[in-house]
Amino acid sequence: MITIGVTGGIAAYKIIDVASLLTKKGYEVQAVMTKNATEFVAPLTFSTITSKPVIVDMFKQEKDGAVLHIEIAKKTELLLIAPATANIIAKLKNGLADDFLTTMTLATKCKVVIAPAMNSNMYTNQIVQENIEYLKSKGFLFIEPDSGLLACGDIGIGKLPTADKIVSYVLKTIEEMNIKQDLLGKKYLITAGRTVEAIDPMRYLSNYSTGKMGYALATMAQKRGAIVTLISGPTNLKPPAGVTVVNVRSAMEMYEEVHKYFKDTDVVIKAAAVADFRPKEVQQDKIKKGADTLTLELIKNPDILKSLGDAKENQILVGFAAESENLIENAINKLNSKNLDIIVANNIKQDGAGFNTDTNIATIIDKSGKINNLSKMSKEELANIILDKTRMER
Ligand code: C5P
Repeated sequence: MITIGVTGGIAAYKIIDVASLLTKKGYEVQAVMTKNATEFVAPLTFSTITSKPVIVDMFKQEKDGAVLHIEIAKKTELLLIAPATANIIAKLKNGLADDFLTTMTLATKCKVVIAPAMNSNMYTNQIVQENIEYLKSKGFLFIEPDSGLLACGDIGIGKLPTADKIVSYVLKTIEEMNIKQDLLGKKYLITAGRTVEAIDPMRYLSNYSTGKMGYALATMAQKRGAIVTLISGPTNLKPPAGVTVVNVRSAMEMYEEVHKYFKDTDVVIKAAAVADFRPKEVQQDKIKKGADTLTLELIKNPDILKSLGDAKENQILVGFAAESENLIENAINKLNSKNLDIIVANNIKQDGAGFNTDTNIATIIDKSGKINNLSKMSKEELANIILDKTRMER
């Protein structure tokens, strides 16, 4: 059941649409209103839409002697408080329980999503912002208000987002709540992105890897309950929530960091595109363009994955093989020579695979020789299949 707590703001009328959309999607919706909210919208509107009596008063709703706020608190899978006034946010921050909504919020163990809506001066007031930060630190989720023309005539942040936006946030939260926690407590070490090998103070050697595959793996592993450390080369991607990110630049730095964590890890997934060579010497000053030719001497970087294969105890080791020819044969050779448990191979020449795309076309091969050819799919979907496979190998 989704409970919607409506508080006394002008945006309360917008929540009629939210209740209606969720009801139409088949959710059981219970509306709870504060007394002030009933000044803006009649409870009858919500009870008609949700086909349930609206709860306003703490003491008029006893049902067969049951303690209603506890019963509703237990039945609720997600509590949405929208619009949330500065007042309700302050009350929740201080643990007050002086009406039905605040009392049931204290009594519930479910996810609470809060959509603040108020005048922008109120919203940006340091006290309100500190209250929001405090509640966030306790696990409350907040939907950021929109900016625009407010009911009071001011322009600024504080507008309740559209019903569609609120509903998609609620549905996304429910989807995440339902993700299986099958990697709970397992330690995953994931590498992502490219490495950058310095030539002089302003130039480097690198490749086109964006880090999307490694970031998708880290994101999905974290959502499935794993404790994730992500060793990342330079990318433009946002650090995944709840993941420890260690930023590195060169292959040598990645080598060092990976080995720091390796011993205390259950599964390592090396999705990074590591440079095989680096300039033998990094020039201290910018190389001048005087000469017609320039020869750079390169030396080999350590193969990080192979060094892990050599040092492996009980860890599951997953490598990637980006190939442009003889995909399977090359991938199997890598699986064996690097002592891996699983290799994910893709043909970088194929459309929709490899670097710089949101999709991938992969073949997963395990150490028993099982070959699984997958179709084109998003990197998140592929990440989940790879993570499934790491469980089966344990
Ligand atoms: O041998 P190849 O470079 O094709 O192998 C790719 C796999 O090895 C990837 O998982 C990549 O992260 C890893 N690798 C590594 N260190 C290197 C080169 C590749 O860990 N120096």
